[in-house]
Amino acid sequence: MMRNGIKNKKVILAVCGGIAAYKSIEILRLLKKAGAEVRVIMTQSAQWFVGALTFEALSGQSVFKDMFQEGSEASFRHIDWAREADGVIIAPATANTIGKLANGIADDPLSTFMLAVASPVLICPSMNTHMYANQAVQRNLDTLRSDGYVVVEPASGQLACGTTGPGRLPEPEEIFDRFLGCLSPKDLVGKKILVTAGPTIEPIDPVRFISNRSSGKMGFAVARAAEHRGAEVTLISGPTHLADPMNVTTIRVRTAEEMAGHVFQQMENADVIIKSAAVSDYGPKESEAHKIKKGKNELVLHLQQNEDILKVLGQKKKHQILVGFAAETKDLEKNATQKLAEKNLDIIAGNLVGSSDSGFESDTNTVTLFFKDGTTESLPTMEKLEVAHILLDRIATKVLRAAKAPKSTKN
Ligand SMILES: Cc1cc2nc3c(=O)[nH]c(=O)nc-3n(C[C@H](O)[C@H](O)[C@H](O)COP(=O)(O)O)c2cc1C
Repeated sequence: MMRNGIKNKKVILAVCGGIAAYKSIEILRLLKKAGAEVRVIMTQSAQWFVGALTFEALSGQSVFKDMFQEGSEASFRHIDWAREADGVIIAPATANTIGKLANGIADDPLSTFMLAVASPVLICPSMNTHMYANQAVQRNLDTLRSDGYVVVEPASGQLACGTTGPGRLPEPEEIFDRFLGCLSPKDLVGKKILVTAGPTIEPIDPVRFISNRSSGKMGFAVARAAEHRGAEVTLISGPTHLADPMNVTTIRVRTAEEMAGHVFQQMENADVIIKSAAVSDYGPKESEAHKIKKGKNELVLHLQQNEDILKVLGQKKKHQILVGFAAETKDLEKNATQKLAEKNLDIIAGNLVGSSDSGFESDTNTVTLFFKDGTTESLPTMEKLEVAHILLDRIATKVLRAAKAPKSTKN
């Protein structure tokens, strides 16, 4: 299974002759940054818009742009590349190429290669709004969808040709995210997953607050991974700088109280609840209506404990699978297993915070999973999206399956 999707995977990026061809350079860069080995196919028309040399330099491989070329090692490139590909992105996909693919035409490197591909394919149409609305184009896109290709809806807006409407190639980050989804297994279809993320902030006065260093990256990664795997995801997040994940219902909150309200409202609907938010344990007993002025040498703040959302969820839960996170600075196992039992969790993901490659703010995390049945699993340091996929793997196999298994009956 694809974990973070594309690390060390062979990805084919196909570029057609559309005005958005320049955006494919950024898609190539994102793929390379994520560790993919990228090969590029360009149509003849694409080369009017962007030079093959740019793709050659960035991918480190020669671009496949001529069907017939001297030299035996290049003779069957359309077959070899198709056989070796783990996934294919066509961006931008022109009306012309879409028509060819829907009708099985093989008269250039891309269309010929596509007939031999067996791996997942993401098609990103981009064209003038009227071309996009054209019945033949829409008919061809329907054919491609029913043939099993994933088609990304173009964005709406002002297009290079002057018209306004759908037809714009989505941003490269969006295409990259959709491609990760295209490669992910769809084992969570029909599941409703509630995720919490980020810190909460507890106001002291109108300009100051108590909070913590949670960036929200772990929870957002869990929400993205669950969405990639087909789940219906609701994300409740405290203040973060992260953009809402695609196709995820995202509710932004500020305080622990607001988070509690939304979580309890949503819990009934959820099959799985994954609480990765770093909710403030304490908040000021009273928040001042006006800014506290400087004056006294010492200032005493009275704090009171916030409601323990995870504990309440553990008490109230019925059918739900409940997963928590424990960020500790010491005694990880002791603290995590204690929290697992006290809060009636199915899994707790424990991580030591404080190093630069794990915990708050970092893109990677070093996590140990503690399960209700007493087993543990220590994961090496890895991308948070990868940690999220492993956590979902365990939820999908170990916990969801156990919950579904028929109770043994005596007769
Ligand atoms: C300036 C210019 C911009 C174009 N932009 C697009 C476009 O965004 N989408 C599209 O489907 N066709 C566009 N075309 C038309 C395609 O280049 C043309 O249909 C070509 O045959 C596509 O070939 P290909 O599918 O092999 O790349 C454009 C043509 C020109 C001259």
